[in-house]
Amino acid sequence: VDPTPLQDFCIPDLESKSPIINGFPCKKPADASSKDFFFEGLTKRGNEFDTLNVNLTQVDVFAFPALNTLGMSMNRVEFLPGGLNPPHTHPRATELSLVVEGKLLAGWVSTEYILYWKVVSAGELFVIPPGMVHFQLNVGEGRAQFYASFNSQNPGISKMAPTLFDSIPLIPDDVLSTAFNLNDSVIQLIKSKVAHLG
Ligand code: GLV
Ligand code: MN
Repeated sequence: VDPTPLQDFCIPDLESKSPIINGFPCKKPADASSKDFFFEGLTKRGNEFDTLNVNLTQVDVFAFPALNTLGMSMNRVEFLPGGLNPPHTHPRATELSLVVEGKLLAGWVSTEYILYWKVVSAGELFVIPPGMVHFQLNVGEGRAQFYASFNSQNPGISKMAPTLFDSIPLIPDDVLSTAFNLNDSVIQLIKSKVAHLG
């Protein structure tokens, strides 16, 4: 949850060379114009899908700078048939999502390792508590799509697979082989597979 703003808005100077603060410094209010407060980047469907058959459009403070200090943002997630938004967390936000197309198996796991899940379709909402690991799989015949809203201008996305198996530098094999109760050779195989996900 982001801190409460101390002014109406704060159109950021994303290029500011000032020391890092919590957010971005504001331009002078007089320098703001109507175009700052509108975002057209969701008017078209995504057409570039990743190796997991998902297109993610992030509308965070970097895409839509006027969100700076306002404590909210959105994503659109589009799926081809079989597409997977893989297990990930948003370290700084709750996610509240509206399904607008298709059928998704949406799930998340609590800190008590309980999986909560449902197959959701157009018009349904789902909520992911802050920081919880979650995923969605397109289980319908056609495309699927949902809009996620977040109570942070910069919710962040931390994907499980690259976090564990494709970090820079890599986590040593013995950390992972011990953690997963596997041989190093299996860990190396997983690392090479995850590296190719792109
Ligand atoms: C949904 O899970 C998203 O990260 O946008
Ligand atoms: Mn998410």
